Amino acid sequence: MSNATEFFSELQKHSDAKLQILNSYVIPWMRKIVLGTKAFGGKCLVIDGFAGQGVYDDGSDGSPIILLKCAIDCYNQFIELGWAPPNIFLIFIEGSTENYKLLKKNVIDTVNLTDPKKFKDGAFFASDDYPTINIACFNDDFKDVLGKILKDVPSLIPSFCFIDPFGFSQTPFDLIKKYMKNRFAEIFLNFIYEETNRFIKHTNKSIQQHISDQFGVTDLEELKAMIDETGDPNTRKQVIVSYYAGQLYNEANAKHVISFEIKKKGRTKLVLFFATKNIVGLSTMKKAMWGVDNTGSYLYDDKQESDQIEFLFFKEEQEQQHIERLAGQIEVFFSGKENVTKNEVEEFTIVSTVYPEGKLLTGALKHLEKHKKIHVEKIDGSKRKSGFKDVYINFE
Ligand SMILES: C[S@@+](CC[C@H](N)C(=O)[O-])C[C@H]1O[C@@H](n2cnc3c(N)ncnc32)[C@H](O)[C@@H]1O
Repeated sequence: MSNATEFFSELQKHSDAKLQILNSYVIPWMRKIVLGTKAFGGKCLVIDGFAGQGVYDDGSDGSPIILLKCAIDCYNQFIELGWAPPNIFLIFIEGSTENYKLLKKNVIDTVNLTDPKKFKDGAFFASDDYPTINIACFNDDFKDVLGKILKDVPSLIPSFCFIDPFGFSQTPFDLIKKYMKNRFAEIFLNFIYEETNRFIKHTNKSIQQHISDQFGVTDLEELKAMIDETGDPNTRKQVIVSYYAGQLYNEANAKHVISFEIKKKGRTKLVLFFATKNIVGLSTMKKAMWGVDNTGSYLYDDKQESDQIEFLFFKEEQEQQHIERLAGQIEVFFSGKENVTKNEVEEFTIVSTVYPEGKLLTGALKHLEKHKKIHVEKIDGSKRKSGFKDVYINFE
């Protein structure tokens, strides 16, 4: 059985963690983008660069069908609310002809395309059931298709690109950099850590070239020298992950980068990178990642998951610890400051701590108030009952 056939025979737990994050991110993203970016006529684009067959042999949905179902959910929500239907563009790229055939069938079934002739390779089509969900499928190479789109379309509508290859040779950084030039472009990329780490010092020239291209550098000497200074595998991992994140910040001009490590049987297989210029995207992604790991480590380990029984009181105790830790960080950062708004505390939390905003942040503010570390008053001078809406927060 080839690696690819084995991969699609069953959705493995560590791949499922990746897809859960994708699934939790995309609907809120679509809603916020379509509703929030009127400048683009309420349109958004989702690209799945390594789409696979759509459905695994065990019946689990793969990334393109997850994305398509998110679009359908979003469409149905808008219709139920009496809003204009969202204009969603989906591009699915799959290199293997065998997988593409299955992908095509699964897409047709999911949107209930009664006239299969409407499906044309490499062109947008929509079904009668969902006329504003436009889908284009390409049986082609990711680099070629995305490269052509970026050449033909000078400025993209708000877009999200999921990049989920098997190896490190198909995702040259130059392409990611070009894509990220677009103001509202985001990537969610599966960085194949295990192989990259294994081959990074390989003597074969062509492998070296692929890894240099992956990192977007002309040669790898700087990174290799940094690796040589470390003996410990965890420090080595930190060096590689920070180096790639640094490229996303400095070369691809991402404003926010967040990574999530995925282990299989205790070994780091993948590192997922999310890069965006948009704080709302960062906040939404942090929440999606917390849905898979609520410890604040941004790590999923399939080994731990099966051994771990989480009792309710343990979860509550953990949550209280997070609340107190976040409260401490907020207290230090804003110490002595007056007239701080909740938005400012939210921004600090999203950008500078491991925590997402939401329940934990409200808990942290309550904790600070209870311990008289903050004094809260309504901005308009009216009497405050509770909560942190329209208030100034004054820190001790
Ligand atoms: C890790 S799998 C994708 C899994 C899929 N994203 C999912 O979650 O169900 C990688 C897929 O990329 C395809 N592929 C490999 N090289 C490619 C390339 N250069 N361009 C597009 N697809 C490619 C493989 O055939 C395989 O189906």
